[in-house]
This record gives sequence, structure tokens and C-alpha cells, in this order.
Amino acid sequence: MIGSAFPQLNARDSLQLVSPLPQISTCSAAQLREQVARFYAGKFSNIPSSICLAPGRINLIGEHVDYNSGVVLPFAIDLHSAVAVGLNSTSLIRVSSQLDGVVHELSAAPDAGRWPGWLRYLQGTLKLWSQRTERPPFGFDLAVTSTLPMGAGLSSSASLCVAILSALQTAATGRASLPQVEQPPTWEQAQLCQQVEHQFANVPCGLMDQLVVLAGQRNHLLAIDFHEMTLEPIPWPGSDLSCLLIHTGVQHDLATSEYGLRRATCESAARKLGALSLRSVTLENLLAASSALTDLEFKRARHVVSEIERTMQATANCRAGQAEQLGRLMDESHVSLRDDYEVSCMELDYLVEQVRQLPGVLGARMTGGGFGGSMIALLPTQSLSLSLLEKLLATYESRFGLNPRWLLCQPSSGSIELNSGD
Ligand code: GLA
Repeated sequence: MIGSAFPQLNARDSLQLVSPLPQISTCSAAQLREQVARFYAGKFSNIPSSICLAPGRINLIGEHVDYNSGVVLPFAIDLHSAVAVGLNSTSLIRVSSQLDGVVHELSAAPDAGRWPGWLRYLQGTLKLWSQRTERPPFGFDLAVTSTLPMGAGLSSSASLCVAILSALQTAATGRASLPQVEQPPTWEQAQLCQQVEHQFANVPCGLMDQLVVLAGQRNHLLAIDFHEMTLEPIPWPGSDLSCLLIHTGVQHDLATSEYGLRRATCESAARKLGALSLRSVTLENLLAASSALTDLEFKRARHVVSEIERTMQATANCRAGQAEQLGRLMDESHVSLRDDYEVSCMELDYLVEQVRQLPGVLGARMTGGGFGGSMIALLPTQSLSLSLLEKLLATYESRFGLNPRWLLCQPSSGSIELNSGD
């Protein structure tokens, strides 16, 4: 429906063909599905009963406000985690990721000890889902492949949890001898995956990533209001516009960063202001009550309160197709994240500064949790100069000794379930 009303961007395909630059490699959902099915068959000599793909996300604006009951404006992108699952008749789980190809054999009762590395996401999702559905443990085989770079600030872990959850649900629902499992609504599924991060990965994240991974729509941003608990698709502000995404090459890790500290500072600022959350605080309130806060609390709160304002304004600009205003808000958002919230880093700041000078760029900012990861810029697709981008990235590479990767993006769909018989 939306696809036909909204002309398909094909500039990206042509750019991929001609560009000599290191791009983030992508492939279609169909190719990824084939890839995960082949990988699964190679490891487990069988065909999977369900395959689920879940995308990563870019947040256009509204950073570090989801856990302050704010509003955000992210979209799902065409980079995915793919999970294939088939039940087996043992009490064991056999799991393999294409990253290293190792097959792990684990007990189907995920209580025993903490599983290492990426397996903790499987352990958490399985444990919380089994508790919720009151399912006895059962054996299954699970294979994972992905086009989503890890540590790039593009929600690879939320995407992995959503893909695992959807694949498990589908596989279990398809088996007549097991009790049928009803698909929980979006917020509930997102909350389950958020709890995996809290309890199994030590990341006290908000709920933005999980929601957009589940509910993102092609050619739409997703306006999420965490106070009203609403999701509203907002049309992408122009079919000729794209988001240039550049991964700095600095791995971000929210478990070891100051993410939790930022969240705690916001909560203490809200408490001192007598508010349930910073959502109900205005800039005037904040200025009037500044003496009640430490300097740090004041700065952090000023970012949150002003970012919520910017995101509301940006949503209105998107509705009105006002791309230039949107770009300016993205610029302001970056300054606020850099100076008040202090979650940027020199590599992000450098790229944001330089990319802003490229012809056609309307605005640029870091995206996601920060402390490394990726930056984005909004621009008319056709105005991207590959030669200038190449020069910029080469200079970045020699200055920082890092390998940046880039991609042109427009919003794609949220999680996709593909049964192997489809
Ligand atoms: C991470 C978290 C999100 C959100 C962003 C910052 O991606 O997972 O909940 O807080 O950082 O906006």
C-alpha cells in the first residue's frame, strides 16, 4: 500500500554498484533468509521450521529521552539479524552463529549459569519467554546470521532478541504437541526484550530500540511517546531524501559506558524537581529551579527537556515535509548531546562537523546511545558526492586509524517472520 504510493529509492543501488568506498554490506531479506536457512542446514542437517528477520534502527532525533518518558523518532533500516529455529526431540539446545560457526550445546533449562557472549541474549530471551508462557523446557536448534554490525549503535542486540523471540514463538506455535502460544502485543514483546538487556546484559536501556525493531514501517518514521505509550507512523519527509549513515569504527558498549549513570542522573534531577520524570519539566521550570540541582544534573536535564521539544518540533516538520528545519534540529541535537549530555566522542564530533560541510547536507548528528557508534546526516540522495565522501573518509581513516563504514538509508519494515514453507 505504502510502497506503491511512495516511489522506491533506487539511488542506493546505483551508489553501491559504482562506489569504491567501504560500505556496510547489505543483502535483501530474501537473500538473508536463504543464507540463514543454508547455514542452519549445514550445521544441523535439517530445515528450520521458522525463520525471523529483525532490523536494526537509526534514531533520527530524540536521543536519551526514552527512559525519561519522552518522545523519539526512529526508523527501522535494511540491515537485519536473521534467526532460524527448528525443534529437536532432545532436551538440548544446539546453537550456532555464522560469526564463528561454532556449535554450542546447552541445556534447554536456561537457569544453569550465565551463558557467554551473544548467547546471553538467547538465554535471557528464552528464560523470560518461558516464564511468561509457563512453558516447560524443550530442545531446539537455532542458527543466527546478520548484516547488522555490532557495536555500531544500530541496535544489533535489540534486533537479535526480537528475532530470537519471534522465531521461538513461531516454532513453538507450529508444534501441535506443545501448548499454543499467543503472540503478545508489541509493547509486551518489546518489554520482554528490554528486560533481557537489563537482566542479562547489564544495560538499563529504554524501550525505543525494541519498539522500532518490532513496529517500524517502510518509508515511515515511528513517533513513540513514552508517556502516552503510543506509536504513530510518520511518513518519511521526502522520497528524494536519505540518511547517510557512517559507523565511526569506535565500538560502543552501553554495559561498560556511562549510560546507566546518565539515566540515574536524570532520575535524581526529576526527583529534586518534584517531577515523576523529566517529561513534565519545561525549560522555564528548569531554569527557575536550577539552584535545586547540581551543575551536572542541570546540564543533563537541559539536554533531555530541550531534546523532547526538538523531537516534537521535528515530528511536526516531518508531517509538513520541512526538511531544512528538520536538519537544523538535528544539528542542535548533536550540540546538546555533545556539550550537555556528554555522550559523544571526538570521532563522532569530527565526522559530524566534516559531513555537515558536504553539499546538500541539511543536518547531522550522532545517533543511538553514543560513546562511539554511528553518525547520520540528512540530505537529498542525489546530492551525495561520492568523491567528496571518499576524501573525507580517507582523511578520517588516517587521522584516527579507524575504518569507517557508510550506507545510505531510508526507513524499512520492522521484524519479518518467514516460515520455512513460505
Ligand atoms: C540506546 C538504548 C535506547 C536509548 C538510546 C539513546 O540505544 O538502548 O533505549 O536510550 O540508547 O537514545
